[in-house]
Amino acid sequence: MIMANDAGTQAHAAELAFAVHAAPIHAASVSRLIGYWADHGLTIRRDLRQIVTAIDDFVVAIHDERVVGCGALETVGGGIGEIRSIAVDAAVGKVGAGRAVMEALFAKAHLRGIDTLVLLTKIPDFFTRFGFEAIEFDAVPGEYAALIAAQSGRTFEGKTIMRRVLVPQVPVVQVAPVMTGVEAR
Ligand SMILES: CC(C)(COP(=O)(O)OP(=O)(O)OC[C@H]1O[C@@H](n2cnc3c(N)ncnc32)[C@H](O)[C@@H]1OP(=O)(O)O)[C@@H](O)C(=O)NCCC(=O)NCCS
Repeated sequence: MIMANDAGTQAHAAELAFAVHAAPIHAASVSRLIGYWADHGLTIRRDLRQIVTAIDDFVVAIHDERVVGCGALETVGGGIGEIRSIAVDAAVGKVGAGRAVMEALFAKAHLRGIDTLVLLTKIPDFFTRFGFEAIEFDAVPGEYAALIAAQSGRTFEGKTIMRRVLVPQVPVVQVAPVMTGVEAR
């Protein structure tokens, strides 16, 4: 399970959202979130079947035992991954759901050995906070241009193209705590 949040300044830690890998049971909530923002022109609508098929790409943010956010990492090829379908419940308030989703997607990218993330957005300022920078169309990797061309309803037009190169992570080795003063029974 991925759990991500920086327990920052937005709310008390117990009130913050956390993110996990999505499972098929989350698909309807994911569809609802993406659909809401698709109606506002900010996400690309994806039907339930597409979401279920791609559920391994998704993470969901949970708050108060509800799915309040989602996002997906689509493998493009050539070490590139696309961040897409970022959507947070407009009614949930400042619980860090967007941040939890982004950090979980970075963790997913590391697990997949992806070293470059790309995305298309109408809200570049949000992604700048997470280390993305805008790039010109000329700098778009060929694999990504081909993917967008192959997917119906998707276009670079009217969107900011952004990229972030990931720094390789040093694997964290977890050592079990040494128990002292406890007799084995
Ligand atoms: C953008 C969105 C995901 C943010 O979700 P959220 O839960 O409000 O995000 P968080 O509260 O975790 O915010 C994380 C940081 O981003 C900032 N932020 C949030 N929305 C922002 C926006 N629209 N523009 C710029 N910064 C934004 C927050 O202030 C916060 O900054 P901080 O860490 O310095 O305090 C959410 O508003 C949303 O779903 N928007 C509509 C869908 C959309 O446009 N998706 C992108 C498709 S590419």
